Amino acid sequence: MTSRKPRVVLGVSAGIAAYKACELLRRLTESGHDVRVVPTADALRFVGEPTWAALSGHPVSTEVWDGVAEVPHVRLGQGADLVLVAPATADLLARAAHGLADDLLTNTLLTARCPVVFAPAMHTEMWLHPATRANVETLRSRGALVIEPASGRLTGADTGPGRLPDPAELFDVARHVLARTARAEPGEGGTGGSADGSGPATAAEAAAAWHDLAGRHVVISAGGTREAIDPVRYLGNRSSGLQGYALARTAVARGARVTLVAANVALPDPAGAEIVPAGSAEEMRKAVLEAAGTADAVVMAAAVADFRPADYRDLKIKKTPGTEPEPIRLVKTADILAELGERRPAGQVVVGFAAETDDVLENGRTKLARKRSDLLVVNQVGVDLAFGRPDNAAVVLGADGSRTDVPRGPKEALAEIVWDLVAARLESRPPD
Ligand code: CTP
Repeated sequence: MTSRKPRVVLGVSAGIAAYKACELLRRLTESGHDVRVVPTADALRFVGEPTWAALSGHPVSTEVWDGVAEVPHVRLGQGADLVLVAPATADLLARAAHGLADDLLTNTLLTARCPVVFAPAMHTEMWLHPATRANVETLRSRGALVIEPASGRLTGADTGPGRLPDPAELFDVARHVLARTARAEPGEGGTGGSADGSGPATAAEAAAAWHDLAGRHVVISAGGTREAIDPVRYLGNRSSGLQGYALARTAVARGARVTLVAANVALPDPAGAEIVPAGSAEEMRKAVLEAAGTADAVVMAAAVADFRPADYRDLKIKKTPGTEPEPIRLVKTADILAELGERRPAGQVVVGFAAETDDVLENGRTKLARKRSDLLVVNQVGVDLAFGRPDNAAVVLGADGSRTDVPRGPKEALAEIVWDLVAARLESRPPD
């Protein structure tokens, strides 16, 4: 492994979201990346050249005619570890898809031999236009990662898909892609790329390894459901959603289309994931089963309530002086994971989580069989373990009898191992 700073080319095309790229740039440079900013000429109408130069510490050019002696149109792309275009406009995506080379950024895209990530931002109509859809498909089919834009308020009064994701979340995608390619460099063993720890042998294998979930649709549940007692009270649990969100972030960076069914999570939306909110166990059941119809893999990381109050009170339950409160009768909720295991389409990989306080492995094996899952991530929970913490330790049990021990580490590391195991099981199922 070399110790030089990772080299990132940050392409900026002419969208109002260019101002958000300043924050992305700052995060990249402050975390030790050497960043060259390559704006399009029109992008400079939104944010000027001095801003990019000051924040990156490098001169900035839009044209191939500046500094010709250094052949910048070839050198920048060839030397980069990552090219990240944020925002990527409809026009930039079209020029990239058609292989045009009419400015420094499009030249750089043609000479890059590293991962290329586009973060599109535009009005919903432009994003959904068949021309843009076709260009996105072309870029994806050539190995680029094109992140789904976020939904929400756009520049005018309109709302819909087309927003540039939060810069902190885009930074996270860049970080994951760089980490995966650093691990997957040809000839380097290391810990990554594949579940068995052996590195890929060729550059082509390395390129395929960083986004091994490309063309896959994965559904992830996260957070903890709440079962209403009355309009102000609920039965809930201590799940923060951190593990499910880590699974979503890593899956996006590995190229998957991600549906994240989130129950009561107070975390920023991961870039590129479609967020489907679900409050109760029943809402989560409906959302997960609907999304799972076409999914290649479903990971149930959510803490779903096992019981809910049998009767919902329309009015707040009052303290009545001189009387004891009435007991709350509970009924079982539907077991979503078991239902997924029963009705899954051929080849779909189903992953469950099991939070156990005792007899951890024994309970895990029984649960894996009972819920007909392919993989079960078993971890010990209790005070100061797992819930709300950034780290986790687990054992991943496979229906094929396999066992993968994951030492205590960041929840993202566990997420990567889950995807390694899922990707290995998906190999026999061709992407759509
Ligand atoms: N799960 C689910 N639907 C439920 C309850 C749980 O899909 N109603 C899923 C969780 O998302 C998790 C897995 O099942 O992936 C294990 O949940 P857990 O509560 O540990 O299992 P239970 O079947 O409830 O077993 P226990 O008796 O240990 O609570």
